[in-house]
Amino acid sequence: MNLDELLAAAQQELATLTQADQVEAFRIKFLGAKGLLKTASDQLKTLPNDQKRGYGSKLNTVKQAVQAAYDAAKASVGQKSGNRESLVDITEPGRLSFADYHPGSLHIIHQTIDALTDLFGRMGFSIAQGPELEDEFHNFEALNVPRQHPARDPLDNFYLQQPAGAAPFMLRSQTSSVQIRVLETSRPPVRIVAPGRVYRPDTVDATHSFMFHQIEGLVVDEHITMVDLKTCIDQFAKAFFGADVETRFRPSFFPFTEPSAEFDVRFHYADGSSKWVELGGCGMVDPNVLEMVHVDPEQYTGFAFGLGVERIAMRKHGIEDIRLLFENDVRFLKQF
Ligand code: DAH
Repeated sequence: MNLDELLAAAQQELATLTQADQVEAFRIKFLGAKGLLKTASDQLKTLPNDQKRGYGSKLNTVKQAVQAAYDAAKASVGQKSGNRESLVDITEPGRLSFADYHPGSLHIIHQTIDALTDLFGRMGFSIAQGPELEDEFHNFEALNVPRQHPARDPLDNFYLQQPAGAAPFMLRSQTSSVQIRVLETSRPPVRIVAPGRVYRPDTVDATHSFMFHQIEGLVVDEHITMVDLKTCIDQFAKAFFGADVETRFRPSFFPFTEPSAEFDVRFHYADGSSKWVELGGCGMVDPNVLEMVHVDPEQYTGFAFGLGVERIAMRKHGIEDIRLLFENDVRFLKQF
């Protein structure tokens, strides 16, 4: 078959094809590794030198024509039969642009915890942890919250249902329990932060949730004073939110610190208004607490703080509703 005949045969055959498998058979017959065009190009070698040039260029023209006709037939058969699967080349790269890809990322709460532990780490704190399922000794008793204290009301805590007479267990209501866990196993000087979940049966609204995160801090050493506490928290706030953040300490009461304070930062809302929002509590470790864990309050003093991680994240990113942090709508999460 000469090249003209080959082209004519290919065009004739292609005109009759209606099925994808026929188109594929055509490809193998004409364009395949052992197809007619391959045979035709093998002939090139056998020709006398003066014919090679003319034959070679004609061969190229025919090859291109057959390939183009084949491509057209393949596309039109695919469309007609609606049988697109056979035309999907799964090795093709996708059509999304790079900007459309959203690889997973850490949840904004965990990003915040990482940033906080990183920052406190640079201030010389190490990280401590304690269990979320706690006993009353660590969550209350050792923190100077006696049995009759209203904070222990079963309605304000998640107690576990236990067989009669068994020691009560609860989901911890504060990371302050980790202060006790740490002081039971290590001696001063102590300088830790403990991030983690806490649980309270609060009604959910824009600023409350039944589960949230706190980051607890504890420093116990000789000669620790209220100045160290205020400096530490102020330095943290400036480093984390920016030097122009407005902060204030308000006198308060916690059973495990004396004196105690609450720490507020000014929150700026999208509508231009602003107000003070409490980030958490702090104070000088109550001598009773140190005695509970056999640390001599005559020799050692300390300060502690417990801050709300959600509120820190909200203040940092201008998030006005805590529920956004738990609903996990990807459209919200992927902004961070
Ligand atoms: N545990 C307190 C709470 O959950 C917060 C707190 C206040 C922690 C004072 C402290 C502290 O370490 O010293 O509301």
